[in-house]
Amino acid sequence: MRTVEVIGVGMGNPRHLTQQAVDALRRVDAFFVLEKGSAADELAELRRDLCRAVIGTGDYRLVAVPDPPRDRSATAYAQAVEDWTAARGEVLLDTMEAHLEPGQTAGILAWGDPAFYDSTLRVLDGGRATGRLEVEVVPGISSIQMLAAAHRISLTRVGQPLQVTTGRRLAEEGFPPGCHDVVVMLDGACSFQHVDPGGVDIYWGADLGGPDQAVIAGGLGEVGDAILARRAEIRSRRGWVMDTYLLRRDVRHP
Ligand SMILES: C[S@@+](CC[C@H](N)C(=O)[O-])C[C@H]1O[C@@H](n2cnc3c(N)ncnc32)[C@H](O)[C@@H]1O
Repeated sequence: MRTVEVIGVGMGNPRHLTQQAVDALRRVDAFFVLEKGSAADELAELRRDLCRAVIGTGDYRLVAVPDPPRDRSATAYAQAVEDWTAARGEVLLDTMEAHLEPGQTAGILAWGDPAFYDSTLRVLDGGRATGRLEVEVVPGISSIQMLAAAHRISLTRVGQPLQVTTGRRLAEEGFPPGCHDVVVMLDGACSFQHVDPGGVDIYWGADLGGPDQAVIAGGLGEVGDAILARRAEIRSRRGWVMDTYLLRRDVRHP
């Protein structure tokens, strides 16, 4: 059996790593990187830089794992994602077994924290279930925490729930019932534009913790356009942008 360390690495800056993550990085015999293209490849490069910075030129390997193609034409979205996840798991397991002896340790670097919108742990489920892999998780600093720190706010208000959701769901469903604080991720379409701005504040952040970090906060009606403009400017300069935001509604709002 091989062990996989799934290591949350924050936003790519070595200073985001916990000591636990540094120890885990140094234990790993080979790192496995699923290659996807475009922005994801840039993130794969950042992960390589991180290994170099923390481990130096020591005795470790980086193994690129070709990502199997995903059927984006399928109408049954959930099933298509499940099939793709299983296919990725198989490719990953085969590659690990080809590159590591039993008893050795694989490493996968998860952007931010693997608990938030990261498929790594699901991809490894098959290997765990069949006894081919032991999985260990080292938590990392998520973009959600970076967002809160950059704005110097707590994400939760006294006795109130917080929901983490996607841009697509926000656009389709609006504020979740009974919830006045929503963190939105994976939003390439600025779905806050579909929200009634009355009584709503937004705390937005792009490239949090990175060289192009941008933050804007204020009433959604007042700063929404400024966010759109800033986001478009970063995107046109770099080709991609990762952003996340908190929408906070006045709890007395109907
Ligand atoms: C696939 S999810 C991964 C989230 C990651 N596991 C985490 O804990 O932050 C990618 C989404 O995370 C958010 N994100 C990741 N890095 C970010 C950054 N540096 N600045 C702002 N948002 C970021 C964006 O909403 C992006 O669409």
